[in-house]
Amino acid sequence: MKIAVIGTGYVGLVTGTCFAETGNHVTCVDIDEKKVQKLQSGVVTIYEPGLEVLFERNIRQKRLDFTTNLKEGIKDAEVIFLALPTPPGEDGSADLQYILKVANDLGPILENYAVVVDKSTVPVGTAEKVHAAIAANAKVEFDVVSNPEFLREGVAVDDFMKPDRVVIGTRSDKAKKIMENLYAPLVRQGNPVIFMDEKSAELTKYAANSFLATKITFMNEIANLCELLGADVDMVRKGIGTDTRIGKRFLFAGIGYGGSCFPKDVQALAKSSKDVGYNFKILNSVMDVNTTQKTRLMDHIKGYFKNDLKGKTIALWGLAFKPYTDDIREAPALYNIDALLEAGAKVRAYDPEAMENVQDVVGDKITYCEDEYEALEGADALMIMTEWPVFRTPEFKLIKEKLKNPLILDGRNLYEVDQMKELGFTYFSIGR
Ligand code: UDX
Repeated sequence: MKIAVIGTGYVGLVTGTCFAETGNHVTCVDIDEKKVQKLQSGVVTIYEPGLEVLFERNIRQKRLDFTTNLKEGIKDAEVIFLALPTPPGEDGSADLQYILKVANDLGPILENYAVVVDKSTVPVGTAEKVHAAIAANAKVEFDVVSNPEFLREGVAVDDFMKPDRVVIGTRSDKAKKIMENLYAPLVRQGNPVIFMDEKSAELTKYAANSFLATKITFMNEIANLCELLGADVDMVRKGIGTDTRIGKRFLFAGIGYGGSCFPKDVQALAKSSKDVGYNFKILNSVMDVNTTQKTRLMDHIKGYFKNDLKGKTIALWGLAFKPYTDDIREAPALYNIDALLEAGAKVRAYDPEAMENVQDVVGDKITYCEDEYEALEGADALMIMTEWPVFRTPEFKLIKEKLKNPLILDGRNLYEVDQMKELGFTYFSIGR
């Protein structure tokens, strides 16, 4: 099948590369000339484990190419994916200008029937708007389908190639057949392709992300309660997670969720609800709790140093919002950096992938270190922000030697409380 993917951001590039891997011919289109040049010369423009191998192979086999020319890119394409940014506007609602601009441009240049697929996370009703924008100038028949993506950064290739389910919103039989064929190689193990109307598909994406953000936030509140009651959130997690109705996953308490999806989608769903006169109360609480949770460890560190962090040096391990990504959007580390600097502390940070991105935002207000131990040089305490595997079994003896105080504040519950006590650390974690 010939496919076009408009937008070579995170979702677009993974989608394009993976569909090339299943034997389609994919042309990715982007208005950013520099980015397209890089992609054409074989450079992957995002950090995503496992993507590079597929990317290189499919370019080599001439199934994957790139252009800035929309008309050229969509020529003969049976399916055209829109993987464009939908950044939150000032009021929290998703900004559709990029999607609608491309939809407007598509109308006059479509030469054959095509399925236009909304892959971006878009508010309910967007498929209708995209349809109207294309129809205004279209000379041929087309369908607009909603096909939300559920990729997690860091494991996106695997999520794409072996999805738990594929959700497709369309009421057109023709589009349904084409989408079914396209996804057939990815669901051979029997995972379902679920067909529904466009609006339900659009809402499914928001509901999934908001539900997961709520699940995490619920556990964060249980953790906070554990601290007050003297219970252990790890035990409570195991205790409830074994109930299959609840499930084991996404029950890990910590310093809040971040990233490009959960914060944006929870906010957008709350806003869409408000727009139709519904007060989605639980989502407002989720956002509130998550905001305070991000800097929860600040209370402990301030308490330890009797509210005086002036001149203290704090080592930060981890900057990305989660491991295996260089993404720092809404990362708890950024909020802690702000809070520490504001309190007069100095910060020495290390992250295996995200340092350049932090440097772009924070500049030289903090010190960037070569590795996790260098970050400890002259530090008064260690704070852990991201659960990179390299931080899980460190040399505690070395940590103790380097730190001025044996103080660890762990936002990801990496270590056993008893072990830390035995080793002589003052150890704060979340909910234990
Ligand atoms: C998420 C969704 O999982 C994915 O389906 C959607 O397409 C995009 O948004 P992603 O943002 O890549 O993916 O990360 P994810 O692994 O879901 O983690 C999100 C945040 O929740 C991270 O900040 C993570 O640290 C936090 N989290 C996750 C917890 O705090 N506890 C958990 O138990 C799980």
